[in-house]
Formats: sequence, structure tokens, C-alpha cells
Amino acid sequence: MSSRLRPVPGWEVVPRPFDHPDSQRLVEEVQQEYVVRYGGPDLTPLDPSYFEAPLGAFFVGYLDGEPVATGAWRRRDDVAWAGTTATAEVKRMYVAPRARGRGLARALLAHLEATATQAGAEVMVLETGERQPEAIALYESIGYRRIAGFGFYRDAPLSRCYARALGERRSWDDAAATFDDEPDHGLADPTTREAWRVLLAEALPPAPARVLDVGCGTGTLSGLLAEAGHDVTGVDFAPAMVDLARERHPGVEFLLGDAADPPVGPRAGGGAAYDVVLGRHVLWALPDPAAALRRWVSLLAPGGRLVLVEGRWHTGSGLLAAETSRLLGQAGREVSLRVLDDPVLWGGPTGDERYLVVSRR
Ligand SMILES: C[S@@+](CC[C@H](N)C(=O)[O-])C[C@H]1O[C@@H](n2cnc3c(N)ncnc32)[C@H](O)[C@@H]1O
Repeated sequence: MSSRLRPVPGWEVVPRPFDHPDSQRLVEEVQQEYVVRYGGPDLTPLDPSYFEAPLGAFFVGYLDGEPVATGAWRRRDDVAWAGTTATAEVKRMYVAPRARGRGLARALLAHLEATATQAGAEVMVLETGERQPEAIALYESIGYRRIAGFGFYRDAPLSRCYARALGERRSWDDAAATFDDEPDHGLADPTTREAWRVLLAEALPPAPARVLDVGCGTGTLSGLLAEAGHDVTGVDFAPAMVDLARERHPGVEFLLGDAADPPVGPRAGGGAAYDVVLGRHVLWALPDPAAALRRWVSLLAPGGRLVLVEGRWHTGSGLLAAETSRLLGQAGREVSLRVLDDPVLWGGPTGDERYLVVSRR
């Protein structure tokens, strides 16, 4: 774990126990600031053990050897967001007034995010308050999103809770804005779009079918299928992807959650029932594809089908058709495979392996 970060000369971040004298001095200062802003200190019970590895960490920031900032995180597996409970919570983010205006809060927060990610956290959450507008502005400018209240002050009217994706979710989040620039993602070219429309029409039952689009990204295929008259729900764990999907396809339901364990259950009126679970370029990205396939099968109505578009790309990532077929066989499914080598689908010729699998029972 990197313990040093130097955004300005003389600045360093050092891991310290919560009860270290430098930590305590700064915690006392931040509590005084809460007294001024809110009329009392933060009463959230905190135990020094919350910040011990591997479930937490506490850092003191030094400027020219003087302790001027603190920041900490602790695992908070009771707070779920974006389909995970591998959650870390920021605590005691504070930069003393004498050291403000140098970007230290931003640097410290980046350090907290990096160390929490290294320790296995998948999202970061935090709680701040309406009377800390500078903190709110900082978090929002970095990309934190408002979430439902949690923790000790969950029902307090001034409390504001935020979350941001870490790790793999963050990478997909960062990819969202330009994701649709690829011809097969955005389907901006009418010929490419039409080729996908026809391909999916051939692979799916007639509309209206109930379709779950797992790892839906910006929702391009969900939108295409909704246009064709299907009843579509899309699921993705990258908040920026889901935002774009909702913006571009307002008539379609998009959920923030894990594709491997979608936040859907039996529909009202009974039945666990999707006619189709569709995934394009998603199975390869899941840590346990066999478990995901079992879960997807469990969501199918009798006679339902899995429709998967996968590939093994020139980059070396992806799944060979043989591997996907083997996984489906393990899940007790028959496989019908179609090679997708028509350049129209991809906006140009490809030299790698791309395919569609339709799997009925
Ligand atoms: C290559 S993109 C494909 C997007 C979309 N299916 C398409 O074909 O345009 C992979 C998508 O899967 C999502 N993803 C990856 N792992 C996921 C997981 N465990 N749960 C939910 N979404 C996931 C990513 O956020 C990303 O949007």
C-alpha cells in the first residue's frame, strides 16, 4: 500500500492509528468545526479498531512535518450500492484551515479511494452535511452521487450521503462517455443498426417478449429491442452507463446492479419470468461466469432462452466460443452457435472470433 503522496512540496500522507496523538489532535479540530456549524460534535460512535487493516485505514496528512489533515475509511458492508456491499465509508476527512486552497483534500480523497480499492472495496460512500457546502462541492465535482441516507444520521434533515464507484465499476464509468463511439456500440450507422436489428429479431421470440439485458451499458440493444415492441429491463453496475441508458431510452427500465446477480425477482403476479436473458460482451467480464449463467437460467420462464453475444478479441480478452459452450453445457443448456463475421455488424472487417449463442433448454 502506497503511504506517500506529494501533490505539493512538503506534503505527505502517513498511515496512523486513530488514537495516535496527531490523529486525535486533528479529530478534535474537526469536531470543533462541527460544533460551530451544527451546534454539536459528530456523535457517530467510532472505535479505533474500525480503522485497522484490513477493514479500515486512518491517515494523517503532513505539510512540512506539521499534521494538517486527516482522512480515513472503514468497510461498511451494511451499505449496498451499485449491486455490491463491498463498500468502504470515508470518515474524518478534514483539512485544517491553515492548509486549505492547495488541493490537499482532493489528494487525500484520491489516496483513500486507492487504498480502499487495494483492500477490496468496490464502492466508496460518505456522509456529509448541508452546512459543509465546500465539502459537498468537492465531492460532487469529483463525481460522487447523492444516495439514500445511511448510518447514524440517516434520518437527520441536514445529512447528505454520497457514493462513487471504485475499481472495475469506475473503469466502466470512465468509458461511458465515449463508449458509443464504436460502430457496434452506438449503432449510429443505419446499416449497422439494421444488421443488429435483424440479427436480434432472428435470435429472439416474436415481440412482445420480456427481456433482461444484463450488462446493458448505454442501453443500445435495450433500446433497439424496445423499439421492436419487447418489454425490456436493462441492468448495469456502472452508474454512468445507467445514466446514459436512461437519458437515451426514457421508455425503458434500467437498474443499477450486478449483472451476475441482477436485482430482479419474480414479477408481480408470479413467475420468475423473462423470456430472454440477453448479454452482449458481458459474460467474459464477470469474475464467475458459470455462477452468472446459473443465475440467468433461474430467471427464465419455461421455454425461455439465453441470447449471448461474445467474442475473443485481438486484445486477448474475451471468451472463445468453445469456452462459452462448455459453460452453458455445465449449466445444462443446449447451444446453437452462429459466427458473427459479417463486417457490417462491426463497422468493418474483423480478424478475431465473434459469435452469437442462443441457448434453449
Ligand atoms: C463491453 S460493455 C457491453 C455493453 C452492452 N451490453 C453493449 O453491448 O453495448 C460491458 C458492460 O458490462 C458492464 N458490466 C461489467 N461487469 C458487470 C457486472 N458485474 N455487473 C453489471 N454490469 C457489468 C459494464 O459496466 C459495461 O457497461
